[in-house]
Amino acid sequence: MATRRSRQLFRRARRVIPGGVNSPVRAFGSVGGVPRFVDHARGARIFDADGNEYIDYVGSWGPMILGHAAPPVLRALRAALKRGTSFGAPTESETHLAELICGALPSVEQVRMVSSGTEATMSALRLARAVTGRSRILKFEGCYHGHADSLLVGAGSGVATLGIPGSPGVPQAFTELTVQAPFNALDAVQGAFERWRDEIACVIVEPVAGNMGMVAPEPGFLPGLRELCDRYGALLIFDEVMTGFRVAWGGAQRLFDVKPDLTCLGKVVGGGLPAAAYGGRRELMEQMAPEGPVYQAGTLSGNPLAMAAGAETLRELARPGSYEKLGALADQLATGLREAAAEVEIPLCSQSLGGMFGFFFHAGPVHDFEQARQADAACFQRFFRGMLKRGVYLAPSPFEAGFVSLAHRPADLRATLAATRATLASIARAR
Ligand SMILES: Cc1ncc(COP(=O)(O)O)c(C=O)c1O
Repeated sequence: MATRRSRQLFRRARRVIPGGVNSPVRAFGSVGGVPRFVDHARGARIFDADGNEYIDYVGSWGPMILGHAAPPVLRALRAALKRGTSFGAPTESETHLAELICGALPSVEQVRMVSSGTEATMSALRLARAVTGRSRILKFEGCYHGHADSLLVGAGSGVATLGIPGSPGVPQAFTELTVQAPFNALDAVQGAFERWRDEIACVIVEPVAGNMGMVAPEPGFLPGLRELCDRYGALLIFDEVMTGFRVAWGGAQRLFDVKPDLTCLGKVVGGGLPAAAYGGRRELMEQMAPEGPVYQAGTLSGNPLAMAAGAETLRELARPGSYEKLGALADQLATGLREAAAEVEIPLCSQSLGGMFGFFFHAGPVHDFEQARQADAACFQRFFRGMLKRGVYLAPSPFEAGFVSLAHRPADLRATLAATRATLASIARAR
C-alpha cells in the first residue's frame, strides 16, 4: 500500500502544526505507521492522498452517521451557504435544531448551541456549580468529556492513548475538585458522596462509555446514579456527545429510561460541522445569560451552516428503520469480530449498541477502565495495522469506540469481516 504522499504531507505538517495534527490521536502514536492524510470521503469510504480506499468505521469520530458527503446534507449546506456563512445574530435555523433536540430528548426543555463537545461539558459544569453553589464534580475513570481543565483527570480517549494521568498546565487547585470513581461502581459513588457531603455539584458520566473503548452501563448503574444524585442534592449530567442520536433516537437516556438534569450533545447534532449543545430542564437552563447570571457565549455558536447540517442529519435519522439498520450493522460487526477471534483462539470481547460498537483483546467482560487497560495492546496494534493494510479504517487506539453509518452496505460488512479473519489468522500464526 502506497503511503508516500501521506508521509510527505505529515512531514510538512509537523513543521507548522504540533505533532502534525490538530487532535492528538490522529497522529497514530499508539499504533505506529504514518497517519493517512484524507483527500476526500463519500458514503462509507474514505480516500487518502495516495489514492488508497478504506471502509471507514471512525466516521470523523462519530458525526458521520449518514455517511460522508450525504446528498441531503450537502443540499442543505448549499442552500444555507447561499444565504451567508455567519451573522452573529439569531437565525430560525438555531430554533429549528433546538426544537428537534427538545422533541427527541425527554429531559431537555431548553438547549444552548455551542461549537464543540468540550464547550458543552465545560458549560454544563459551570451551570451545575452555579445552581448548587458547590465546587466538586464527580467523573468516572476512563470517561472523556473534552479537554476542559477539571475534566482532564483520569480521562479516556487521547489522554488514555498517550498513557498520561492528566495534563501539565492544569492547576492542582482545579484537579483537587475533581473526584473520580470507577465506571459501573455505584458503591464508590456513594462513598464519594458520603465523604464530600454537600460539596459535590454534579456527577458527569458517559451513559455508555466510548472513550475507554466501548463499555456499557451495567443494569442499575444509571438509575442508581440518578437516585444518589437526588439523595445528595447533586445534578446528574449525561455527556451524550457521543451517544446522543448514536445509540438511539433521543440518546442513551431514552434507551435506558433515565432522565439526567443536564445533557451534553455534539458530534451527530452537528452533522459533521462544528456544533454541539447542552440542555436540560427549563428552570436550570434559564440560569444561563442573558436570562440568568451564569455566563457563556460564542462568536460562532449556532452557526447557520452547522445548524443546517445538524438538522438535516436528524431529519434523515428520524425516518423509520434508521436505528434498526444501524443496530443490525453494528451487531453484525461485533458478533463477526468475536466469532473470527474464537476460530483462531484469540481472546476478544465485543459489544454494540445502536450505531456504536467496541472490542477489546481481552477475554471479558470489561466493566471499567481498569479492565479495559488490561486488554492486549500489542495485539490491538497488530490488528489495527493489518486491517488498515486490508482497506479497513478503524480508530487508531484501543481506547475508542467504532461507528457505523447508514451508508455502510452489506458488501462493506462482508469485506470487513473477511479482512478481520485474514488479519486475526495472521496474528495467530505469528504467535
Ligand atoms: C463523550 C464525549 N464528550 C466530549 C467530547 C469532546 O467533544 P469535542 O471533541 O467536540 O470537544 C468527546 C469527544 O470525543 C466525547 O466523546
